[in-house]
Amino acid sequence: MRSYVVARRGRVSARLAALGVAACAGFAAVAWFGWSSAAPSGYDPALRYPHRTDAIVLQPPQSEPRDATPVGNLIATLAGYAEVPGAHVVLPGAVPPAEREALTTALDDLFGTPAAPRVPDAAAVGDLPMSPGQLAAGSQVYRRLCNQCHGLTGNGQGNAGDWIHPFPRDFRLGQFKIAAHGSRPSPGEIRRILREGVPGTRMQAYDLISDADLNAVTAYVVHLSQRGETELKVLVALADEEGAESAEVPAVVVVAAKKSVADWQAAALSPKAPAVTFPSGEDALRRGHDLFARNCLACHAGYGHAESFRYDAWGVAARLPDLTRGEWKWGREPADAVARIRNGIPAAGMPANPSLTAAEVLDLAAFTKAMSRPDLLPADVRAAVYPDAAE
Ligand code: HEC
Ligand code: HEC
Repeated sequence: MRSYVVARRGRVSARLAALGVAACAGFAAVAWFGWSSAAPSGYDPALRYPHRTDAIVLQPPQSEPRDATPVGNLIATLAGYAEVPGAHVVLPGAVPPAEREALTTALDDLFGTPAAPRVPDAAAVGDLPMSPGQLAAGSQVYRRLCNQCHGLTGNGQGNAGDWIHPFPRDFRLGQFKIAAHGSRPSPGEIRRILREGVPGTRMQAYDLISDADLNAVTAYVVHLSQRGETELKVLVALADEEGAESAEVPAVVVVAAKKSVADWQAAALSPKAPAVTFPSGEDALRRGHDLFARNCLACHAGYGHAESFRYDAWGVAARLPDLTRGEWKWGREPADAVARIRNGIPAAGMPANPSLTAAEVLDLAAFTKAMSRPDLLPADVRAAVYPDAAE
């Protein structure tokens, strides 16, 4: 048996040699070693996070966008708002180089490097440890699976980022659309979006990575967000104040970083939405439809059949979703519909509805979920939602 295997091996290597592969034996050995777990799979230890150079949009143009922000030129498009009256943009290049260097050095002190990331005081976020070991592991997963879209600094501008629509999230604003309460998610909400993906976008479901990798990369996303948010806030402050001293920068950075960490910790405490049961029957759908017409149709024109666009918190214009397609990006459970309608999607510019009663929210949610199912809608409501289908 054994000799048979050896003999076969001999024949195979002879065949490979005949094909000219033997000359590559050294290469093959390197490739094999490179594939093993002993190989470094993280960032170069000498690599620093670079200065932020792209525009910070504090106020997009006032007029409603007539189209979605085009792919292939996002950075220039956002910087171009600086020329639009009524818009407000901070260009990091306007901050003097000495202050920018002081800012990046202070950020390095607090947040480390891509290979050795850390956060102030290694402050855990809810159930999510943020130790240097956890973050270093997360940075390796991120480099492998996320960097090409979300970018080294979490700016959404990885190699592929500019060509994907909707654009990959820029984590540096500290705002997320998945958050069920406000605009900052809990670690559990980030873990969930990674497991489930964002339907209808290029954000796929990472349902096969281990729980350890999932936790580590979640922590790393939080790290990038805390770092990016700190940088953004300080840049805005430096651009505002004439003649700020570089010597003051580190103290300002510490204050901004602690605030971001505390905001993430507070968001981790927000209660998980309880499961809900929708009211049944045609009357509930009619009531939901009436409420929709009064509260929602102004934005969701034609129930989403019509083309309309809005700027989000990053200043990116996106088409409003076609709600009749039933493609829920931010969770498809009944409880998700209730959370969106009650709390809005602040990062997308969708407002909260604190004055609706619990019963009204349930009617609205039931109708919104049924919108993609014409067979479930009462005939009068169906005729309103699907006017083209009426005979
Ligand atoms: C092929 C590009 C691509 C890759 C790779 C990718 N993403 Fe995304 N990501 C996106 C897009 C696109 C969105 C959705 C943006 C939208 O709909 O507004 C998104 C959304 C997200 C969100 C939700 C943001 C929010 O506002 O709630 C998180 C968190 C996220 N990605 C993290 C990750 C992590 C972590 C990885 C790696 C494990 C990863 N992504 C890999 C493109 C990508
Ligand atoms: C000021 C404009 C505005 C108003 C008013 C508004 N929305 Fe939205 N809504 C949006 C935007 C923008 C999005 C896209 C979010 C995104 O980027 O994924 C959205 C998304 C949604 C989604 C998709 C959620 C998902 O998970 O993909 C639903 C459902 C929805 N809105 C329901 C409603 C309902 C119900 C109302 C009325 C109570 C309402 N909206 C009022 C702007 C608005």
